[in-house]
Parts: sequence; C-alpha cells; structure tokens
Amino acid sequence: MNFSEKYKEYQTAAEEAILSRCGEMHFSPSVLTESMRYSLLAGGKRIRPVLFFAALEAFGADYRQETDLAVALECIHTYSLIHDDLPAMDNDDFRRGKPSNHKMFGEANAILAGDALLSYAFDLLLKACMKGERRIRAAQCLSRAAGAEGMIAGQSADLLYSGKTGGRDELLFIYENKTGRLLSAPLEMAAILAGGDPAAAGAFGRDLGILFQLTDDILDEKGESAKMGKTLGKDKTEEKLTCVRLIGLKASEALADEYVGRCRQSLSCFPRNASFFESLIDLVRGRDH
Ligand code: IPE
Ligand code: IPE
Ligand code: MG
Ligand code: MG
Ligand code: MG
Repeated sequence: MNFSEKYKEYQTAAEEAILSRCGEMHFSPSVLTESMRYSLLAGGKRIRPVLFFAALEAFGADYRQETDLAVALECIHTYSLIHDDLPAMDNDDFRRGKPSNHKMFGEANAILAGDALLSYAFDLLLKACMKGERRIRAAQCLSRAAGAEGMIAGQSADLLYSGKTGGRDELLFIYENKTGRLLSAPLEMAAILAGGDPAAAGAFGRDLGILFQLTDDILDEKGESAKMGKTLGKDKTEEKLTCVRLIGLKASEALADEYVGRCRQSLSCFPRNASFFESLIDLVRGRDH
C-alpha cells in the first residue's frame, strides 16, 4: 500500500469513529449537539488521529482498538479551533471551508460547543482509563498536552506577543505549545500504549509540530484561501509573532527545510512504518491545505 492509500485508511478509520460518536450525541438543547457536530464533521485532515494510528502500528499494536482516544484527540483539536476563531482571539470567519462555528451559531454558543467538546473528550479518556494503567498514562499525556502547560500556554503566548516584539525563543515557545503539543501527544500516547519510547516519539513530534506551524504561517502568507479553507493574511493584520514576521518568507522556507532534516533524523524511533512517517514529513512540508 502506498503512502496516500495508507493515510486514507487511517483517516477513514478516524472519520468513521468520529461519525459514530456524533451519531450518539443527543444533547439538549439541540443547538448544542448541532454546534458540536458542525465543527467535528466539517472536514479537516485528521492528522492527529492519523499520527496516533500510524504510531500504534509502528509499535506493533492494533490501532482499531484505540478509537476512543483518537476521537478524544480530534475533539480537543476541534474545540481549540472553535475558540481560536472567536472574535476575542483570531476573529476568523472561515474554518475548514465553511463559516466558523461562531458565524453559524453565535459567539456564546461557539464558546459552549468548545467547552462541551473538551468535556466530551475527557469522558472518552476516562472510559479508556478503565481499561488499565497504560491508558491512564496515555490520557494524562493528552490532558497535559491540551492544558496550561501545553496548547493553552501556546495560545496564551500567541495572544501575548500579538502586536509586540518577540524573538526566536518566544516564537518557538508558541509553536511548540500551541501546535506542537497536540501533534506530539498522539505519538507519545502510542508509545506509552504499545511499548515504544515516549521520549523519542515525543522528540520527533516536537520537531514535526514546529514544522507544521512553520508551514501554517508560510501558507498564511502565500497559500490559497480556497485550498486552506480559511481566510489568509490574518497573521499580518493581527500582527502575530510568526516566522514570516520574524525572519521573512525566504528564511522561513529555509527553516522549514531545516526542520524536515531534524524530523528525518528522529525517524529511528519507529521500529516499523518509518517510510510512512518519512512521507508524512514531506506532506507537511509540501502541503497546500
Ligand atoms: C490548524 O490545524 C490549526 C493549527 C494547529 C495550525 P490543522 O491544519 O490540522 O486543521 P484541520 O484539522 O486540518 O482543519
Ligand atoms: C492555531 O494556530 C493553534 C490552535 C488552534 C491551538 P493558528 O491560529 O495559526 O491556526 P489557524 O491559522 O487559525 O488555523
Ligand atoms: Mg491562533
Ligand atoms: Mg487562528
Ligand atoms: Mg495560522
């Protein structure tokens, strides 16, 4: 099976698990269920569950046994996007090719949809925890990555440095946390669950996360909004601290290439599936959406 077929296999497994969970959501008032489903099912690359599944296979486990954790990952990621798009944060009207959650349901409902998706993720995590100690440690890994010492810390720093001077250390702090932690968590979780080396998988994930945000910032400058499914050029108007603002587009592209090299060097943490991850690095570097 080639890389894109394998990506599709993992993505479809994630999609089916998310769809099945959404089918079980019957929360009242119905606007709550609708707003949660709207963003969860709006598309998206599902790269976090794909990383999780691919790493589980790399460490010799059956990834189909871990769909609850995969859905939890995507719920937390989706909630982070809903809140990221709010007027008080990035004020973005489009996401995943559709009006953002607050444009469809209003600001207050969008805040609640995000809150509900985060809580729902913890329900899934606790369900997994009942299956044993390894899953407890995997769940703890995700809760730390999502919270005040992870993604939220990155979002807080992202806001703090909007319109303010910051250097390379501040930029890397933002990248590592707002984006990197939710990309390295699936790899670390898979290593915890399937007997790999969580520190080595996490180190690869950290570099992949930085590469992912480098390309996100580069694409905000030079991508096509129809392909990206979101309004571009926003980083400039909001004066975000991005690689493009700090070092310019050309040096940002070179830095992204440097991170491709770093990621490739850490591939040995995967006893199997290394060629899948190698192609995935190229996909992240060359992506247009
Ligand atoms: C967007 O994440 C937010 C960032 C961390 C840059 P993705 O690019 O993975 O978004 P979807 O899930 O595919 O829509
Ligand atoms: C988003 O970073 C990171 C999180 C949502 C945690 P960005 O603000 O750069 O993502 P986009 O460009 O809106 O997708
Ligand atoms: Mg943001
Ligand atoms: Mg944003
Ligand atoms: Mg961005």
